Amino acid sequence: MSEKKYSHVTVLLEETIENLNIKPDGIYVDGTLGGGGHSEEICKNLHADGVLIGIDRDTDALEAVGKRLEPYRCKKIFVHSNYADVKEVVEELYEEGKIPRNKIDGAVLDLGVSSFQLDNQERGFSYMQDAPLDMRMNQEDEFSAYELINEYSEKDIAYIISKYGEERWAKRIAKFIVEARKVKPLETTQELVDVIKAAVPKAVRREGPHPAKRTFQAIRIEVNNELGLLETALENFCDVLGRGGRLCVISFHSLEDRIAKEVISKRANPCTCPKDFPVCVCGKVADIKKISGKPVLPSKGEIEANHRSRSAKLRVCEKI
Ligand SMILES: C[S@@+](CC[C@H](N)C(=O)[O-])C[C@H]1O[C@@H](n2cnc3c(N)ncnc32)[C@H](O)[C@@H]1O
Ligand SMILES: [Zn+2]
Repeated sequence: MSEKKYSHVTVLLEETIENLNIKPDGIYVDGTLGGGGHSEEICKNLHADGVLIGIDRDTDALEAVGKRLEPYRCKKIFVHSNYADVKEVVEELYEEGKIPRNKIDGAVLDLGVSSFQLDNQERGFSYMQDAPLDMRMNQEDEFSAYELINEYSEKDIAYIISKYGEERWAKRIAKFIVEARKVKPLETTQELVDVIKAAVPKAVRREGPHPAKRTFQAIRIEVNNELGLLETALENFCDVLGRGGRLCVISFHSLEDRIAKEVISKRANPCTCPKDFPVCVCGKVADIKKISGKPVLPSKGEIEANHRSRSAKLRVCEKI
């Protein structure tokens, strides 16, 4: 791999680290290593006997962060995996004698795409740069934006753009995509941008953000099944935490935040008895408590310094 610049402005860094209550000899999992911003701060707080487990499904990220974290003395374990498989990852490390069982002291999930992925032209995440239609976070996956754009039905494309992109012109964009691909398959981000531009009325294009922004976000979410995996992933992270261990989840999309809120609430209040029952008979007991009722939001200063943080929300829970 050629040398690539790796800059990702980490969102809600201080707030996340504060909420993790890092023990210097603890074991911490970063499920979304990305540029390593959260991981680096965790490492700074760990002694030589502390452990950082960094997971990412992007091999480029793992390679770059490995270098960034070299100066820190704690034990670092990098795993190319999907964060939804955190249970298997932790179990395997236990089997290999690298960590004790039931001992995860904290975990971070900073959802979505990294600046590194966006800035890397050939990955095809950006509507600003021309590249083959791709957007796979895991370069070993077979399904990419190319298959989505050229093989999904018009109805499915419209649904995805509307739901994940909250794009009001979704139906028209889907119609234009299907018309265009009848002539020849859409192969590049620029071809897709041109189709989107043709579908969105000129007056609308002149006002808001780039006309392809919402559609690209939606395609990325679908290609990487970002929302489909989240619920299971959050359940699994809650499962692997040891008593007192904390999970910090940073989301950027209202649908992501809703899933995080629901999983945490369900585990913090699992009783399914009718409200008018005097005592609980379902026997379901909470194993998680909420640390913050409302999500933690970035400060005004952070939003001014980093536009990407404006939609970020941090939710924290603790294993009991
Ligand atoms: C927003 S970035 C994380 C940035 C990081 N916290 C930092 O400060 O540099 C999200 C990262 O999570 C990875 N990712 C997204 N979904 C994933 C999944 N299901 N499993 C593993 N990694 C995932 C992406 O490849 C990306 O590198
Ligand atoms: Zn009950």
